[in-house]
Amino acid sequence: MNTPHLTAAIILAAGESTRMKSRTPKVLHTLGGKTLLQRVMSSVGGLNPATTAVVVRFEHERVAAAASEYNPQATIVEQDEIPGTGRAVQCALADIKDELDPTQGPVLVIASDMPLLDTATLESLTQAHKEQGNAATVLTTTLDDPFGYGRIIRDEGGHVQRIVEQKDANTAERSVKEVNTSVYVFEPSVLLKATENLDADNAQKEFYLTDALETARQFGAVGAYVAPDAELAEGINDRVQLARLASIHNRRICEAWMREGVTILDPATTWIDDDVTLARDVEVLPGSFLQGATVVEEGAVVGPYTTLIDAHIDADAHVERSRVQETHIGARATIGPWTYLRPGNDLAEDTKAGAYVEMKKAHIDQGSKVPHLSYVGDAHIGEHTNVGGGTITANYDGKYKHHTEIGSDVHVGAGNLFVAPVTVGSGVTTGAGSVVRHDVEDNAMVYSENTQHAVQNWEVHQVPDAE
Ligand code: UD1
Ligand code: CA
Repeated sequence: MNTPHLTAAIILAAGESTRMKSRTPKVLHTLGGKTLLQRVMSSVGGLNPATTAVVVRFEHERVAAAASEYNPQATIVEQDEIPGTGRAVQCALADIKDELDPTQGPVLVIASDMPLLDTATLESLTQAHKEQGNAATVLTTTLDDPFGYGRIIRDEGGHVQRIVEQKDANTAERSVKEVNTSVYVFEPSVLLKATENLDADNAQKEFYLTDALETARQFGAVGAYVAPDAELAEGINDRVQLARLASIHNRRICEAWMREGVTILDPATTWIDDDVTLARDVEVLPGSFLQGATVVEEGAVVGPYTTLIDAHIDADAHVERSRVQETHIGARATIGPWTYLRPGNDLAEDTKAGAYVEMKKAHIDQGSKVPHLSYVGDAHIGEHTNVGGGTITANYDGKYKHHTEIGSDVHVGAGNLFVAPVTVGSGVTTGAGSVVRHDVEDNAMVYSENTQHAVQNWEVHQVPDAE
């Protein structure tokens, strides 16, 4: 199938989205790590429209900024105070009508609250529009519960006669289960003429874009293309629908990875963003969130209860009950449980960051271990060094962060404090409880004086009983 080309795409994102009850406009809510607007713009972008217009009004600065980020070439259109999907299109056409060129193809009009709609469905819609030689074609779907949607009223020939909104429909019309998805393809001249004389003579006192379809019949056939996959064409009006579609989307992503050889014990509690990459024989255990551009290499085990954000986990590593962000974990390394790896760490092969260990900008060379209750920040540790439990790099003097350098084959005693900037050579042993303020030469033993006092016959003064 050759890719259909569009002269323009008009993306409607000006609605107030009252049913979300949110400070954030609906189109900026996220699903699978991407906003609804980003998803629609990327599906539309797959059709290479010559012009892309995004109509904004509610929270227009935030929505416009997001739209420009996803497509810097997009034309941002401000809708005026007149409400309705029809008005949104009128405002867009006022800005882009000179750019419309019928030789480049038709115009796509699309709402921005259908996060699962993919390029392939939009392509099929455009293809059907061309093949049937329509003036306008609407993407429809059939729902068991069509409540709230505009219903498709077809004529005897099967063409679309009109679309009637829930609030304007009579009982017979309400029983129709075929609904408008708010995705349309129009011939450019038809769209211009059919949106010229819209009015607000309806229950919602809005300019309805759906009215333009009835008018379009004066200029040619108005067809409907039924989405082959109803789930993909579903819209979001409230947070219940957002959660439902997010879980459908996540289930599809998990199943795709399982088919590629990834074990996912419980897809219902495993959330994987679109841009994550997983190799064969990766095992993901329940309660795990794999986000951003995370990469997990062959045979690694992630979870249970682990969050990876833009992390790179090498083969056969094991990350359990931990949070790992912008960090590289080497092959066969073991992380967790309860380990917090903040951005900028690089842990080499066969390393360990154990229970209640926090790291930030820590570079840990091959075979070194930080097994218990430690903080390592702005530090480099050489190979095969072992860091005793409860050790802290004191990297912050209240104004600046400083570096700690610890060599290879170092044996750090329990409860050490490295007061940065400080450098400890290779082969060093430090005593338990040392406060290391000064650089230590290779192969030295260092300990801090820490006098033990004992008071004989010490009496504990009991608090008298309450009664
Ligand atoms: C609309 C359709 C309905 C369809 C349903 C599918 C109309 C009159 N009705 O109803 O037939 O079944 O979508 O979800 O078109 N928008 C603007 N400016 C506005 C109002 C809305 O840009 O003034 C945008 C919204 O941001 C949204 C889209 O248009 O992306 C649809 O708006 P929404 O309020 O969700 O329309 P529905 O009432 O659901
Ligand atoms: Ca809607």
